[in-house]
Amino acid sequence: MQMSTSLKPALDAIGTAMDQRFDRLLPVPADGRGRLFAGMRHAVIGGGKRMRPLLVVAACDLFHVDRERALRVALAIECVHCYSLIHDDLPCMDDDDLRRGKPTVHKAFDEATAVLAGDSLHALAFEILADPATHGDPGARAELVLELARASGPSGMAGGQMMDIAATETNFDLAATTRLQQLKTGALIGFCLEAGAIMGRIPDERRTPLRGYARDLGLAFQIADDLLDVEGSADKTGKAVGKDAAAGKATFVSLLGVDRARTQAAMLIDQAIDHLHSFGSEADLLRAIARFAIERDF
Ligand code: IPE
Ligand code: IPE
Ligand code: MG
Ligand code: MG
Ligand code: MG
Repeated sequence: MQMSTSLKPALDAIGTAMDQRFDRLLPVPADGRGRLFAGMRHAVIGGGKRMRPLLVVAACDLFHVDRERALRVALAIECVHCYSLIHDDLPCMDDDDLRRGKPTVHKAFDEATAVLAGDSLHALAFEILADPATHGDPGARAELVLELARASGPSGMAGGQMMDIAATETNFDLAATTRLQQLKTGALIGFCLEAGAIMGRIPDERRTPLRGYARDLGLAFQIADDLLDVEGSADKTGKAVGKDAAAGKATFVSLLGVDRARTQAAMLIDQAIDHLHSFGSEADLLRAIARFAIERDF
């Protein structure tokens, strides 16, 4: 496994923290909703890199946010991310059978359960953010809700997913593909950094470095995902590979080729790290996450 040694303990710790909290949050009720909760648990417990939760915690740490509160925001973004993956894997979208090394939710359960598990995780994210336990200031909670809504909806992840589907029929150039990636992947990653600033009550003008970092990281992360689809293995990634080319999807790899896509991703990560120049060692975790985003093989 390629990973900077400093990041492995942090990823393991956030993985455990997320698993424990999801386990507590989602006990399976003894009524007709049991299957729904089981589907949600299947999607959110025991898998995934948890990179978005780690980004939230790393951004919150910059501003000395209480760790338990930061972890609530981390749970919320992971809910939206997992919901997006459940729906992304449905037959009407990417039609995938394997996710995080396990059968996808519609395979392990059925399509109705997968749709409803996604819907429920989507709603749960906002319930977590709007709860006073997440922040004492109602203004901060409202801002978290607003930003996550923007990042997930038609001007964010869902809009990007629509463009991604269109990209199989229309010829997308580099500019259109960049926008597609910014929406489908970049927006949720952007929320992670923005959330740190919101939780820390940092004024807008001091958020510029984090926004620059998130923008470059988001793009590089999706390029790395597209490279793994070409060069990676199902064993390591826990999902089917070779699907983008088979579907005729416009990606940075299909447009630039493997070598130039990799160079582009590396350049973006250098840029992302440059945005953090005004921070000292307190931003080292964000720097390590950026390097991991393109060095990973899973
Ligand atoms: C996969 O995201 C979907 C993309 C936006 C590229 P991740 O690679 O973060 O998936 P998990 O959470 O580790 O499974
Ligand atoms: C999915 O992108 C991004 C979202 C779910 C928003 P992909 O379709 O490339 O993700 P994988 O490769 O299935 O994880
Ligand atoms: Mg997809
Ligand atoms: Mg997919
Ligand atoms: Mg992919």
